[in-house]
Amino acid sequence: MTAVFVLTLPIIVIAAMLGHSWASDSPAETMATASQTSAAGPRGEAAFKTACVVCHGPGGAGVPHLGKPLRNSAFVQEQTDEELFALLAQGRLPTDPANTTGVLMPARGAQNLSDDKLHDVIAYLREIQDPSQPIASVDAWVIAKPDDARGADTGDAADGAATAVVTGLRNELFVSSCSACHGEFGQGVEGLGKPLGTSEFVRSKTDKELITFIKTGRPLWDAENTTGIDMPPKGGNPALSDEDLLEIVAYIRSLSK
Ligand code: HEC
Ligand code: HEC
Repeated sequence: MTAVFVLTLPIIVIAAMLGHSWASDSPAETMATASQTSAAGPRGEAAFKTACVVCHGPGGAGVPHLGKPLRNSAFVQEQTDEELFALLAQGRLPTDPANTTGVLMPARGAQNLSDDKLHDVIAYLREIQDPSQPIASVDAWVIAKPDDARGADTGDAADGAATAVVTGLRNELFVSSCSACHGEFGQGVEGLGKPLGTSEFVRSKTDKELITFIKTGRPLWDAENTTGIDMPPKGGNPALSDEDLLEIVAYIRSLSK
């Protein structure tokens, strides 16, 4: 009796382990039930720490004026998984009517997260909702309508440079399209965009070259990419005109003075 038990126990244990790893590794399974499997939440939390935490804070508490609170978030609770997926995959431009910060939410957290990873992140977002708790306030995130952020932008290309220098430290175009990754004053954000004020790259390029660079971005697979993070074309904001880019370049130059 004991001998039979000793012989079969390891088999049962091994079978259980194999069964477990099949269940969590099978791609079909992951796609179909990512939000329901118990492994999706922890995987989503790990992805959140890579791709979301810099802007949305630890545990999704929010970073004032940047990523909105996601824990006990009215927005998250109102959205279906499909709607959340669409937002995460596309991001939210400063010109989107739902955007109240005037700051870009980059597509896929700017880290090119796969569809599977986004489903995992959604499972994690569901886990950090506690309906017995009050909804997180978004007051500190209702800052500027996109129209205000772009309000003063009526000048032609020629006064772009002048305005940027006069406004000195803060430039609204830069804040809305670049600051999420490069910091409000171009100081850089650890784990995201590089510092621009001290950049040799910026110094070594003409205005024209910089504008071409910003329009193109620098994808992960570019040999010059050192961070392993996408610099998206126009920072992910296709609405930026050449005049806007000239103003932004003048602003970046003013940072290194
Ligand atoms: C570079 C900064 C940045 C990163 C990285 C980022 N976000 Fe955001 N996110 C923002 C900003 C800024 C907003 C607010 C935009 C606005 O004004 O509506 C936002 C808004 C959101 C919203 C809408 C919240 C609401 O109440 O309307 C969700 C959901 C969200 N982000 C999820 C994520 C997830 C999940 C990730 C990681 C995959 C992520 N974000 C990565 C900056 C970021
Ligand atoms: C979603 C995040 C993100 C946004 C938004 C973004 N950038 Fe970047 N940017 C990056 C990353 C990441 C790098 C570094 C890529 C690498 O080389 O590894 C970078 C690099 C750069 C560089 C090159 C710096 C150097 O020293 O090599 C410049 C210049 C730059 N960005 C300008 C801008 C401007 C201007 C905007 C707004 C129009 C902008 N970026 C918006 C992420 C972003």
